[in-house]
Amino acid sequence: MCGIVGYAGNVLMPSRRPLEVCLQGLERLEYRGYDSAGVALTAPGVDHVEMRKKAGRLSNLVADIEARPLSEATVAIGHTRWATNGVPNDVNAHPHSSRDGKVAIIHNGIIENASQLRLDLQAEGYRFVSSTDTEVAAKLLGKIVDAVIEETGGPNLFEAMRRMSRMLEGAFTILAVDCRQPGVVVGARHDSPLVVGLGEGENFLGSDVAAFVAYTKTAMEIDQDQAVQVSSDGVVVTDFDGNVVPDSVIYEVDWDASAAEKGGWDSFMDKEIHEEPAAVQNTLLGRLDANGDINLDEIRIDPQDLKAVDKIIVIGCGTASYAGLVAKYAIEHWVRIPVEVELAHEFRYRDPILTPRTLVVAISQSGETMDTLMALRHAREQGSKVLAICNTQGASIPRESDAVLYTHAGPEVAVASTKAFVAQITAAYILGLYLAQLKGAVFRDEISQTLNYLKDMPAKIQWILDTQTDTIKEAAAQLVNANTVLFLGRHVGYPVALEGALKLKEIAYTFTEGFAAGELKHGPIALVDEGEPVVFIVPPARGRNMLHAKVISGIEEVKARGAYIIAVAEENDKDVERYADVIFWRPEAPTLMSPLVDVVPLQLFAMDMAKMKGYDVDKPRNLAKSVTVE
Ligand code: M6R
Repeated sequence: MCGIVGYAGNVLMPSRRPLEVCLQGLERLEYRGYDSAGVALTAPGVDHVEMRKKAGRLSNLVADIEARPLSEATVAIGHTRWATNGVPNDVNAHPHSSRDGKVAIIHNGIIENASQLRLDLQAEGYRFVSSTDTEVAAKLLGKIVDAVIEETGGPNLFEAMRRMSRMLEGAFTILAVDCRQPGVVVGARHDSPLVVGLGEGENFLGSDVAAFVAYTKTAMEIDQDQAVQVSSDGVVVTDFDGNVVPDSVIYEVDWDASAAEKGGWDSFMDKEIHEEPAAVQNTLLGRLDANGDINLDEIRIDPQDLKAVDKIIVIGCGTASYAGLVAKYAIEHWVRIPVEVELAHEFRYRDPILTPRTLVVAISQSGETMDTLMALRHAREQGSKVLAICNTQGASIPRESDAVLYTHAGPEVAVASTKAFVAQITAAYILGLYLAQLKGAVFRDEISQTLNYLKDMPAKIQWILDTQTDTIKEAAAQLVNANTVLFLGRHVGYPVALEGALKLKEIAYTFTEGFAAGELKHGPIALVDEGEPVVFIVPPARGRNMLHAKVISGIEEVKARGAYIIAVAEENDKDVERYADVIFWRPEAPTLMSPLVDVVPLQLFAMDMAKMKGYDVDKPRNLAKSVTVE
């Protein structure tokens, strides 16, 4: 939600053009928001910060700069916006400037006391041109910079930023530049992400490492309520009172810039779906020792504490919460302790029962989802341990958790989550099997058999990618004008139905609903009319064939009412062949593993349909990849 980038190069001999660094960083961060974009630059000897901003995609800004080039600079900040307050237009786009135009800021988050601050400033004669909270902060920062100059005789943007941060309520990451200090960019963060990129003779700031990974893979964490000043030759981190923080964590980013490029694919979503076999495989890597036991030393919770866990609550939002629902079936089955799954934004406000023996598992691709972050803070305050399943190194959620199990899906750029979903399920399965191993809830040979099944899953996903794409495309073409699509599944097929429905609604803008197939007769069947498309996730006929028979009955019932049936089913399922109009086949897999394959055709189906409708599948309207406001 809003992408932020900052760059400080050498004042005398810049190694790169700050504008280019910012524009490239914004291109990589555009998945965080794409309502408008803007940059602010400054250099020695100028009397105001130069700004340029445009509504719409980053390409609008780039075209505008090409038509009317900006001056050379030593430092720059850039912003790509997901509007929170104020419609997306040129005026509301960031940066915003101080009254005298000497200071410019960009901001991610929501400043909750902006209305009061605006009234106070208006009473002092300040005028506002936009309806954003960010402009309030810009005017306020300019005022504080002036006060600091009056007190000390010189500009000190860093000190001014700290003073302002103490006055702001809500969530914010703010970066600022001042033309009187053309060698520095300063920043501050509270409940919103910010990370530093450490270069040689240059330093970077970004909402996440994607902003600068093309230039450096060495990153430094900025913690909650810290401020930072970067120049070409140094980085200083303090708390909001000015106390220097000497020991910020520095780490190496474990992927390179090419991982966040399309690499020949026409969309990130297509690329990322095709990376799913690798996402599962890489998430399994390194988690088994030579004896075939699961080894999760990395999670840093005392095994005795984990052994004592008597309840798990999984929290997450959107796709991550559906991965949690899948995990519930597996973990309860293996570990025999109750697993609740709750949307993070609901969890926090219902006074959940949490004890030191409750393990809260926070699932998040980005690691920055504010709802999930707030929920995990609540759980920790109540004395429960929190384990994060996360795809983003160094993000707030893993940093604030007691332990983390990283998914190794690589950077996910498309707003619609795909490879992260299968990686999250894989990580949750490893966790479940590890708990079962610790508690002795499952025999060792069963654990190793289950792990073998899991190891086979990448090849099974690949089989779908290799054999089903034409059928899926034809089905998407057939249904491209459908107004509604229903998705039904049972057991682990239920969360897959929810995820299939979410994918289609978020990128093809088709009205969809996902239901537990057993609910059909309790209401949803009233929606079924002649030609209504209904997608069924069919469990295998082998094993728990009770489930299979029930889903087939559901198919028969809607078929009898004229529905158009699309089934995701295991190869050679004769019952499905009898009733379905279209079948997306998937290879044989144990029931608990089946979501890893069943979801793939639904992701492709949604992507194909969105493309046929002419939509940008990577950047669906109104959405952003990382939801950093509550
Ligand atoms: O980064 P997170 O996994 O915490 O994000 C959670 C949801 O916002 C995310 O899964 C969202 O639902 C996606 N748009 C789904 O495709």
